[in-house]
Amino acid sequence: MNDSGSGSKSNGKDRDLKALSEKALHLISDHPSYMDEEYLRAFVGRYTEKAGLFRDLVRDHGSPLYLLDESGLKNKLSRFREAFSILPGTPDIYYAVKSNNMPEIAGILAGEGAGLDVSSGRELDLALRAGAQKIFFSGPGKTDSELSDAVRNSGRVTLLIDSFGELDRLDRVTRGINIPIKAGVRLTTAEDGLWRKFGIPLKRLEEFFRKAEPARQIQLEGIQFHTSWNLNPDAQTAFISRLGEVLRQMPLSILGQIRFIDIGGGYWPEQGEWLRAEGTSSGALRNILSAEGTDTKSKYMLESSPIEVFAKRISETLESELPEMTGLRICMEPGRWLCHDNMHLLMKVIDLKTPDIAITDAGTNAIGWERFEHDYFPVINISDPGLEEHTFNILGSLCTPHDVWGYSFFGKSIAPGDILLIPTQGAYTYSLRQEFIKALPRTVVTSI
Ligand SMILES: Cc1ncc(COP(=O)(O)O)c(C=O)c1O
Repeated sequence: MNDSGSGSKSNGKDRDLKALSEKALHLISDHPSYMDEEYLRAFVGRYTEKAGLFRDLVRDHGSPLYLLDESGLKNKLSRFREAFSILPGTPDIYYAVKSNNMPEIAGILAGEGAGLDVSSGRELDLALRAGAQKIFFSGPGKTDSELSDAVRNSGRVTLLIDSFGELDRLDRVTRGINIPIKAGVRLTTAEDGLWRKFGIPLKRLEEFFRKAEPARQIQLEGIQFHTSWNLNPDAQTAFISRLGEVLRQMPLSILGQIRFIDIGGGYWPEQGEWLRAEGTSSGALRNILSAEGTDTKSKYMLESSPIEVFAKRISETLESELPEMTGLRICMEPGRWLCHDNMHLLMKVIDLKTPDIAITDAGTNAIGWERFEHDYFPVINISDPGLEEHTFNILGSLCTPHDVWGYSFFGKSIAPGDILLIPTQGAYTYSLRQEFIKALPRTVVTSI
């Protein structure tokens, strides 16, 4: 009996191993498309053309630098507005401050009439200082003191309530201060798993509106949802369809209260997602198994839809799924789509350690995470510009070998004192920067 028991156990293990190795084989062969090298060179060329301008900025302001392109940022906002002007309702844009919390970005966008989307008391403070006239305060876990701050600024702030518990607390806070506030409710887009931590389930929407009725100071008048990392509009349109189904069953007394639908952010920049092997499932697995170690050369690209495609598909879906609600304000919370292209990093080579290692004056604490081990971006030597890419380890000055800017550079040569540019680093870098060993770069705002 014992024998047959251990036999069936080992059979089970064999089956598991077989299933795993089949999955591994499938994974390994299923990698995204390789990066088009011509496209990459054209991208790099757009920056090498302006090498003189970047060198002048470092001469005048020192190194390292965060470089914010003001006109680029304004152009992006206009293009986003233009694209979404086809919506059936009135489009209303709120820049998601978390994607890059540089005060200058909030100031420029608020100056152009955009709203700001904030997720904490700190971000609320930043948005108020930036002069934003329209602020959405969203996110789970708002403290009572954050709720009070929002209520005290209710002329400018709409609070996006995240849970039934938060509704109770907001009711208490508003009664205490005796000030009314406009509000919406966030819906979760995935009822399973940890994304549940955001918002309430769609099936409890009516219950939420009913529960909010006695809350005298809360003017509940909108709905918010957000899906992340959308290379195309499929996730957004799928959720709008689900929402449409629920709203069609909703009593008119509740429907009549809804003045805005906030469809969130998550629009992937048009550049697409640029990955190293380590950033893909197949490459990460190969890296573990390969006798040659980590593949630092392969580059992959996941394409993303232009914003006009997002706008068209979202607009069509809103029209077909919510036809009776055309007077609504349609709000959006783009973050990375606006800031990604418009902040660049500039740094200097301090030391050529060996014939294949350059150390820079900046450390990756300037971006807060080991981004370049997973994501590919070109490192461009603007002191000796060229369109050839050379294998070379470009490393920061922190106390970790994970302090990597890249495994290659574009240019003719590389030497101490050279100025390096890593373009399009606007999203989820500056906000994540860390006080660690090296001073953080200074910020320069200009138009390039
Ligand atoms: C509620 C909400 N809105 C907007 C955004 C911005 O997303 P993105 O920068 O991808 O556009 C986020 C990002 O996490 C978010 O959580």
